[in-house]
Amino acid sequence: MGFFINTDQASTASPKAPGVGEAMMRFIDAGAFNASRGIYAGAFDTEAMLYRTREQLSDMFDAPRLKNVTFSSGVTLALNVLLYGILKKGDHVITSSMEHNAVVRPLTQLRDESRIDFSLAMANKEGQLDPEKIVDLIRPQTKLVIVTAASNVAGTRLPLRDIGNICREKGILFAVDSAQAAGTVPISMLEDHIDALAITGHKGLLGPQGVGALLLSDPAAELIQAVICGGTGSFSHLETMPEPLPDRLEAGTLALPAIAGLSVALDWIEETGLFNIHQHKADLTARFLQRVNEIPQVRVFGISDPEDREGRVAVVSVQAEGMDPSELSQRLAEAGVLTRVGLHCAPRAHQTIASYPEGTVRFSFAYNHSLSDIDQVADILQSIVETG
Ligand SMILES: Cc1ncc(COP(=O)(O)O)c(C=O)c1O
Repeated sequence: MGFFINTDQASTASPKAPGVGEAMMRFIDAGAFNASRGIYAGAFDTEAMLYRTREQLSDMFDAPRLKNVTFSSGVTLALNVLLYGILKKGDHVITSSMEHNAVVRPLTQLRDESRIDFSLAMANKEGQLDPEKIVDLIRPQTKLVIVTAASNVAGTRLPLRDIGNICREKGILFAVDSAQAAGTVPISMLEDHIDALAITGHKGLLGPQGVGALLLSDPAAELIQAVICGGTGSFSHLETMPEPLPDRLEAGTLALPAIAGLSVALDWIEETGLFNIHQHKADLTARFLQRVNEIPQVRVFGISDPEDREGRVAVVSVQAEGMDPSELSQRLAEAGVLTRVGLHCAPRAHQTIASYPEGTVRFSFAYNHSLSDIDQVADILQSIVETG
């Protein structure tokens, strides 16, 4: 591949944090020993690596205790394990109109199986959600509120702390899909009153694909039942899943090389500082918005104000006048700018921001982009839409 600028970071971060690939290779080359299954040095080393990564996740997201940090393959599996493990017949769930299909599809399947009902709190045209919309939907059967921390379509952040406070006050569990926010903006389970935090390792956390986590509050940890059953290397005399966490939610062999990579990525984020990462990505986004706001043929969906640095993450959706989004994305790719086009697994979010059914071209930025990268992207976009 020749010249390119990858502004498709919301799909998966690329490149990963420095040292991630080496850490994965090191794990494999050192023997790739399994955890919790052998009583020899290599197995203990793996156990220590797992323990340390749990600690890193727990520190970054303020989990109440280490055993409540359970590994999964990403947000998708974490949310399925959560929703199927916690919801019972007759339960009601509230979610937002900005959700990814990782939230919407398991909820819809549960509803189609006549197990639960759910309601949608509607965001405004910029993708912002008024927490009062959630209050209006609460029923006596409401067990869970689940929202994304930031939209993968418009980049809009949802008001986690306000929603967490409402849930705490009403005795409702609060779950968050952190896919587009983790590693960029702070999320605290304790301060935001989050009962279940679904994490994916390969986006803002700058780790490899195949690893994620589900972090639980104590009440959620008590309620959740195992959905995936199998061996845990512990309590092997039992033919049922063991009660203690994390074992209850970690049947089968974990994605150990990916966890080794994630651990290095989490170290890098810690050293770089979440604040610095967010500020730089906010600078990039502000510059991009300034530039595209000056291109009359380009329309930004969601928040277009470059000054709103806290209300969003570095994800911007656009359409160009008179040009199909697929054609624009294709032309951008030919000029070396990688984007994602379409509905981004979130059709309802596009309905909310009025970009349905055609979808948008989505630009998403990384810490290692520079302002001159952003200018180049904007120049290329401008020349494509001006020449038609
Ligand atoms: C908001 C949101 N939720 C969930 C997911 C699913 O993440 P994963 O595929 O890593 O499970 C994504 C990924 O695109 C996302 O953007």
